[in-house]
Amino acid sequence: MNKFALTLIALGAATVLGGCAGMPSGGGDNPFATASFQTILKHDFSSKGQAGLSRLKQTDEAQSACSKYGYLGKPMPEALAKNIESKALERVVYPADGQYLGDWKEGLKIASDGKGMQWNDKPGTPNGGNCLACHQVVPNDPSQGNIGPSLVGYGRLRGSSAVILKYTWARIYDSASFNACSFMPPFGAHHILTEQQMKDVMALLLDPKSPVNR
Ligand code: HEC
Repeated sequence: MNKFALTLIALGAATVLGGCAGMPSGGGDNPFATASFQTILKHDFSSKGQAGLSRLKQTDEAQSACSKYGYLGKPMPEALAKNIESKALERVVYPADGQYLGDWKEGLKIASDGKGMQWNDKPGTPNGGNCLACHQVVPNDPSQGNIGPSLVGYGRLRGSSAVILKYTWARIYDSASFNACSFMPPFGAHHILTEQQMKDVMALLLDPKSPVNR
């Protein structure tokens, strides 16, 4: 499966593909905004349950910029990439109580859970993070993805200094803070995971007792 297809599945929502509906035909150098691509979308996609066609709309400049560059494997002008990254980093909301780490056991369930935001999921029920679809998280489990880097030993190798806590939180909140066209879903920025779920996933990566670090 290619990265593009997997990203769509992993998101359950088309944050990457987003934005073709409602854009002027033509689309300039964004192939996802061309009239022919819109025709395919209108023909093949329909609203069902909570999965509405509004998900196909691009909601920020990063999505349309990445449709022209990053997602097509073309280098983005550096100033544009830096701009997207610094804006994403500024929008990160850190835990109000200063506590970054929850329960790694809950974090493992969230990381393994690929459900949520699909038309047949009950709206309002917690989403999974599906981290294992893209990352090796626990040793010796062959059914993990390799689109992202292995996270095995994450906390053991990096420690849990304030800098690492903030970096890891921001990565999970919105990975575009560090890579404008990251394939990783913006779990905090798009309200995919709650603050508590993010804390639990943080503990999975950083708690010395977590299987990630044993
Ligand atoms: C659709 C694929 C995908 C999913 C799902 C995903 N990631 Fe990622 N992740 C990536 C990619 C790709 C990178 C590499 C950096 C980049 O491109 O932004 C990355 C980078 C990271 C990093 C930074 C690694 C480093 O060396 O600094 C962390 C931490 C991380 N992911 C954690 C998670 C967690 C936790 C989850 C689940 C809540 C998750 N990822 C879900 C694709 C994904």
